[in-house]
Amino acid sequence: MPTTCGPAVGLPWRKQLQTVRRVAGPWLSPRSRFTFDVMTATAKTKTSASAQGVGTPTIWIDGEWCDRSTAMVSVYDHGLLYGDGVFEGIRVYGGKIFRLEEHLDRLYDSAKAIWLSVPMEKSELAATTKEAVRRSGITEAYIRHLLTRGVGDLGLDPRKCPKPSLIIIVDTIKLWPEEVYESGLNVITAGTPIPHRESLSPRVKSLNYLSHIMAKVEGIHAGADEVLMLDSAGAVAEGSGQNVFVVKNGRLSTPPAYAGILKGVTREAVIELATAAGYQVEQTVLNRYDLYTADEAFFTGTASEIVGIRQLDGRVIGTGRSGPVTRDLRARFQTLVRS
Ligand SMILES: Cc1ncc(COP(=O)(O)O)c(C=O)c1O
Repeated sequence: MPTTCGPAVGLPWRKQLQTVRRVAGPWLSPRSRFTFDVMTATAKTKTSASAQGVGTPTIWIDGEWCDRSTAMVSVYDHGLLYGDGVFEGIRVYGGKIFRLEEHLDRLYDSAKAIWLSVPMEKSELAATTKEAVRRSGITEAYIRHLLTRGVGDLGLDPRKCPKPSLIIIVDTIKLWPEEVYESGLNVITAGTPIPHRESLSPRVKSLNYLSHIMAKVEGIHAGADEVLMLDSAGAVAEGSGQNVFVVKNGRLSTPPAYAGILKGVTREAVIELATAAGYQVEQTVLNRYDLYTADEAFFTGTASEIVGIRQLDGRVIGTGRSGPVTRDLRARFQTLVRS
């Protein structure tokens, strides 16, 4: 009986994966075959970007250019085995990368905080990222950087991973339909708090998103669009992948980064825009009460941009739609990202 990996033994791991995929299908157990089918189906799927004819998802892995069907990682990569790594998500507007430098600064800081070194100078990574966007031909893109501990053994000791792995994916992203930006989101508070800031600091954009995913699933089960996460002391922290702001009497408030939230690049842009537009902005501890009684509340994030909250835990916020300040800041943000 042929083995699934026999023919590939001795080849570099990425070649082994390709060889296994060619020969393994018929002999796999039903369960493994499912996994296999999912892998191949994913590879065959055309993404929205290519379907719209506006470019091709492009992936760079440790110096090699790939597409969705050839981009593969080893099952011994500690990013997969343990979530040992960090990442970034960046948008491209009209072919221009929004705040690349700030995102790369955060990537390098996240890596440093977990004793991981990026195997490339920041300037070189910036140039490779721009090249990936250029090659993709996608002008309204979403870039995902991944830095993993790399290939090791099955123990968690990172010393067994001699070389970190660096990946750049250029594709597209859309979280919600356009109407949501008018109507606002129905949000509930999740029971799952963000991780304690002295455990795995939420300021590290790590590959461990399980708390945020569990919170998101709580929201899905409750029929909500999104969740609000608290910190372990019960103060308002952030959304499942977004920062949060409230507006009261024309004044904006958002939790401070030192409280242990991810310091969002969009959050910073919104603070700058709001300040320049004459709004008062304070970074302060917020309770859910502050959201329940706000005139407006909204989330900010690279993927979601600026999106209003119409309801939290059954309390209607303001008029129950995306409010005037939220819409004003969204318009200013849209001008900024294309300037
Ligand atoms: C947990 C969390 N908070 C906040 C944000 C918003 O950060 P940014 O505006 O940099 O995308 C994100 C987005 O990546 C996130 O995952």
